[in-house]
Amino acid sequence: MKDDGPKGFDLAQLLAERGAERYELHTKHLNHQLPRMLRTIGFDKVYERAEGAHFWDAEGNDYLDMLAGFGVMGLGRHHPVVRKALHDVLDASLADLTRFDCQPLPGLLAEKLLTHSPHLDRVFFGNSGTEAVETALKFARYATGKPRILYCTHAFHGLTTGSLSVNGEDCFRDGFAPLLPDTAIDLGDLDALRRELKRGDVAGLVVEPIQGKGVHASPPGFLRAAQELLHKHKALLIADEVQTGLGRTGDFYAYQHEEGVEPDLVCVAKALSGGYVPVGATLGKDWIFKRVYSSMDRVLVHSASFGSNAQAMAAGLAVLSVGGRGDRGQRPPHRRFSA
Ligand SMILES: Cc1ncc(COP(=O)(O)O)c(C=O)c1O
Repeated sequence: MKDDGPKGFDLAQLLAERGAERYELHTKHLNHQLPRMLRTIGFDKVYERAEGAHFWDAEGNDYLDMLAGFGVMGLGRHHPVVRKALHDVLDASLADLTRFDCQPLPGLLAEKLLTHSPHLDRVFFGNSGTEAVETALKFARYATGKPRILYCTHAFHGLTTGSLSVNGEDCFRDGFAPLLPDTAIDLGDLDALRRELKRGDVAGLVVEPIQGKGVHASPPGFLRAAQELLHKHKALLIADEVQTGLGRTGDFYAYQHEEGVEPDLVCVAKALSGGYVPVGATLGKDWIFKRVYSSMDRVLVHSASFGSNAQAMAAGLAVLSVGGRGDRGQRPPHRRFSA
């Protein structure tokens, strides 16, 4: 007799029966403005299939995916290497998320990821870009013992409350106050940075080397000079590479386009899992992690229930095994992109 596997839930059948209700269900139970907006701009499509950088609708029309899931599909959709890694994880029935052991995959992914930023030593794995930023903000405050974070006008670092406090656009912040008492400077404004640092309460500057909003590149020399100023005042440089990391700009990280820049904390997410599994990572220097996790009773002082889960870790390892863009060993000659 043919074994069709366990019974009880049939995804294909569910989608066949109710997939057509997608816009109606969204309008009724989720953010009702999304279907409204999509209808208004004529994007209320029904995509049936996706592969690489393409979607197809029910009529077989082909759409080029220029949004890439807000940048999570760095390898294109359904990359075979990542897909196989995830099938392998499910088939392996691993003892994942026991929380009272040390699984191999997080260590292996950390080891691999850290090869792209040799000046950094440790990784915290979370589940999203905003969580990677929240981690960096907390670690910077704890490690320096200072409360205030500087950020840039037009910045985007995620939409949870800590990350929102360093968001440079009022349209995202309005109505959610009070936020953390952080302070904006213009990207590239070293005088403003100097002025704020003199107050003596700054834990760090969080910066996207290229801002997603407006696609503003940091001016040549800014990151290096900012790093020097920050370190002089015992504050940290935090590079948010959630959008720009994983080879998106040609080098593995966008900060690497500028010689001598070595951020104290680096935030990664999005393309790290090839778009399949939520993931976030905060990379940092040894002394920062050692301060945060300073004793055994602080072992869980910063943690996440789903952080380091096997699917996300395997997807990350699979992604990093593909392509090798931005490999530090084969780095192209130093160059700067123009804004
Ligand atoms: C630079 C940057 N940081 C953080 C985030 C937040 O990432 P997530 O949406 O995974 O929370 C984003 C999202 O677009 C981003 O572009």
